[in-house]
Amino acid sequence: MSNHQNEIKNTAMSFLEVQNVSKIYQAGREHVSAVNGITSQVMQGEFISVTGPSGSGKSTLLSILGGLNHPTEGKLLVDGIDVYELSVEQRADFRREYLGFVFQSFQLIPYLTVAENVLLPLTVSSHSNSEQKEMALSILEKVGLTHKTRRLPDELSGGEQQRVAIARALINQPPIILADEPTGNLDSATSEEIMKLFQALNSEGITMIMVTHNPDNIRYARRCISLRDGKLVN
Ligand SMILES: Nc1ncnc2c1ncn2[C@@H]1O[C@H](COP(=O)(O)OP(=O)(O)OP(=O)(O)O)[C@@H](O)[C@H]1O
Ligand SMILES: [Mg+2]
Repeated sequence: MSNHQNEIKNTAMSFLEVQNVSKIYQAGREHVSAVNGITSQVMQGEFISVTGPSGSGKSTLLSILGGLNHPTEGKLLVDGIDVYELSVEQRADFRREYLGFVFQSFQLIPYLTVAENVLLPLTVSSHSNSEQKEMALSILEKVGLTHKTRRLPDELSGGEQQRVAIARALINQPPIILADEPTGNLDSATSEEIMKLFQALNSEGITMIMVTHNPDNIRYARRCISLRDGKLVN
């Protein structure tokens, strides 16, 4: 597998590409066609919003982009890697190297401190304790939370919890962040803070793909993709 930090293979070409991707879920005897033949390309450094009505396939598409949901048909290429041709273990390594995930419901571990939550995705034992502490601090500085490293998640506001989740997504320095309704549980002022943070990360070169219902968020994206019934509309 290539290492994006040393070598991005095709900077000028698409960084992430879905080719004719479909997902049919089987729920009992029912088949749900959640994503229906999507082809799209994302360049490095883009900030893309994904919108569409409830049930249109946004989260399904995002989970496919994240290497978390094997499509029924089609291909995902990231930095030239055919993601669903990788073994399960290789795909886990791929995710750690390339992707940071941010969800609506922060998904922090309630009995771990802020710093411990942030360090959770670190590859096992490759860093000494003091290195880890430094890494957590420097990432938490980025999201403005160095003064809360020893707090537990439920001692923080919603916006602070989401910033911890963003710090956790950044710990392995991934080139891509995938966010699913990242401000769905936040008030509008706090949402704007989170969007400004995403904007800053994007201006450092991180490719952002964000599912959102919120028109205030969409204006931070430089390209908007809309889904309806699992298909791209524009
Ligand atoms: N694990 C699953 N098993 C069966 N059907 C599923 C599963 N996950 C999603 N679906 C169905 O697939 C379709 C697309 O769902 P998805 O969650 O991708 O939509 P969405 O656009 O993210 O919606 P929302 O805006 O409500 O989050 C829906 O009809 C949903 O019921
Ligand atoms: Mg969804």
